[in-house]
Amino acid sequence: MNNKIGFTVGGTYSKGVLVKLEETSHEEIEIGHSLIAKGKQRKYLMITNDVIADSDAAASTVNMSRKPMFAKDMITDTLLTSKINCIPIASSTSKEVEDARTIPDYLSECYLLTPEEAWSFYGACDMEIRYPLGTIKPLDFKVPIDVDTLIQNSFGIFGKSGTGKSVLGNLIAAYIVLYSNHIKNTKLASIPSVLLIFDMHSEYGLKLKTPTQQVLAPGIAETFPEEFRVYCVDPELVDEIDKEFRRGTLASELKIQKKNIEVEDIVVLSELLNISGIGALNLYAVKNRLEELDKTWFDALLNFDNFDYNVLKSKFDMQVITSLRAFSRRLEPFKHFSQITDENDTCQELINDLKENKNVVVTFGRYGDSEILYMFVVNYISRRLRDEYVSKGLMEGTKNRIIIFVEEAHKFLNPQVRGSSPLGLIARELRKRGIVLCVIDQTPSQIDENVFGMVWNFFIGATSIDRDVEVPTRTLKLPELFKPLVTSLRKQEFLAYGSAIKFPAVVKVMEYRSQMAELRRIYESKYKPDLSEYSKSLTKALNSD
Ligand SMILES: Nc1ncnc2c1ncn2[C@@H]1O[C@H](COP(=O)(O)OP(=O)(O)OP(=O)(O)O)[C@@H](O)[C@H]1O
Ligand SMILES: [Mg+2]
Repeated sequence: MNNKIGFTVGGTYSKGVLVKLEETSHEEIEIGHSLIAKGKQRKYLMITNDVIADSDAAASTVNMSRKPMFAKDMITDTLLTSKINCIPIASSTSKEVEDARTIPDYLSECYLLTPEEAWSFYGACDMEIRYPLGTIKPLDFKVPIDVDTLIQNSFGIFGKSGTGKSVLGNLIAAYIVLYSNHIKNTKLASIPSVLLIFDMHSEYGLKLKTPTQQVLAPGIAETFPEEFRVYCVDPELVDEIDKEFRRGTLASELKIQKKNIEVEDIVVLSELLNISGIGALNLYAVKNRLEELDKTWFDALLNFDNFDYNVLKSKFDMQVITSLRAFSRRLEPFKHFSQITDENDTCQELINDLKENKNVVVTFGRYGDSEILYMFVVNYISRRLRDEYVSKGLMEGTKNRIIIFVEEAHKFLNPQVRGSSPLGLIARELRKRGIVLCVIDQTPSQIDENVFGMVWNFFIGATSIDRDVEVPTRTLKLPELFKPLVTSLRKQEFLAYGSAIKFPAVVKVMEYRSQMAELRRIYESKYKPDLSEYSKSLTKALNSD
């Protein structure tokens, strides 16, 4: 196939390589297309970031002149030139493939990426450690992601609403499940990994839906029910999941016992509740006295308006009473939240599941719409998990790796709360003990900058806000050059880069439904030889239209 498109005519390393198009209209080259420049000593992998048709003066002249057609064609060919600007990504010789540190010489022949070239730069998928992230433009070549490397550190999925973050989150979760089975099967030296997914919109525990609420496909837990426990913050989901999944043990209610709620679990919500520093400080100071009023300090705070004023006056001064009353009113959503109980707490069970290598999804159902309850539950479970691991010795903490998926991550990792929120602390302190985050967010610019120091892999979908492009691209070599790529991405397309992908790539993420069906097939054939009635019906559901 002759897919030559032109030759290099100059450029700079910092601004990109200029390629003059030959026998190719600039209408055919999209931003994000990958190409190869055959330099004198190296081959260069490049990605188009701009298309330039700058012969405007000549174009007007050609158009105006009353010349015969053949003359017009001749002038057009010689005077009207089109160029593309390309980011130098990588270079290769017969000995090595590495990041590009030079640019191709003048007049280097350029052609669109071929499967062989793509393979030589990005490597191949093996469906054990390296799984297909998506296809690279303009080919069908599947860019592999190295899951073993990915889960060593935190990673982030960003992009505006509807770009495909949750779909990609489910896909990556599935790859991690398969990879973990591969580790168990081959008894590799790596430690097993397990997922804790905070499923704000019920897309991992239940089903992925399209923006018009049509079912897209089963989420990760339904695709691999043998591997998951689903804790439902919304009790109505338990029946729904059991009915859908046709299994009795998969889903249970998440319960939180009041006596286990610590002052810090509420104080960490101060910003959201609009409680001043003084109000929060009072809470620590008055906890013991609140305990004298009711079964727990938390009960006393929730019911604060109901106590006799004289009783309150005997314990607190006026200012404190006023601020506790205000505090209590702000906790209104908790008063109708039936999962906070006197008797039960399923959080320890959840932590034990993780320790026993069972993946966990915490699905919120209707409570996903309550910002305060979503934040409370995520913070509470994370705090309990952190307590469990911080109190343990280093070796004990690394028996398995935990990957925490959190949507709307900026709520927990913004500069105001990052230093005190349990997830912020986990990201900072527990990486070496094997706990990392998958940070999913529409507005990465609201996440504390320090968090990005811990994020080693980025999946960036389209976004039109400058800061949200700038922040996650900052650790690229030539960040400015990548901006046009991010703004021009379509739905399902991501710019991916980091330690788990050999070189930055613009990919169209694998088609979710068919890829999950493929993964389920691999799972059943390689890791689960006994097909239960359930998995037969699931396979049917995944393969039907
Ligand atoms: N890999 C994919 N395969 C099939 N469909 C996809 C894929 N990625 C995205 N889509 C389509 O795009 C829609 C939006 O995807 P998704 O719900 O993941 O967006 P999102 O970025 O999580 O949005 P939000 O920020 O609003 O939660 C999906 O419902 C689906 O129709
Ligand atoms: Mg989403």
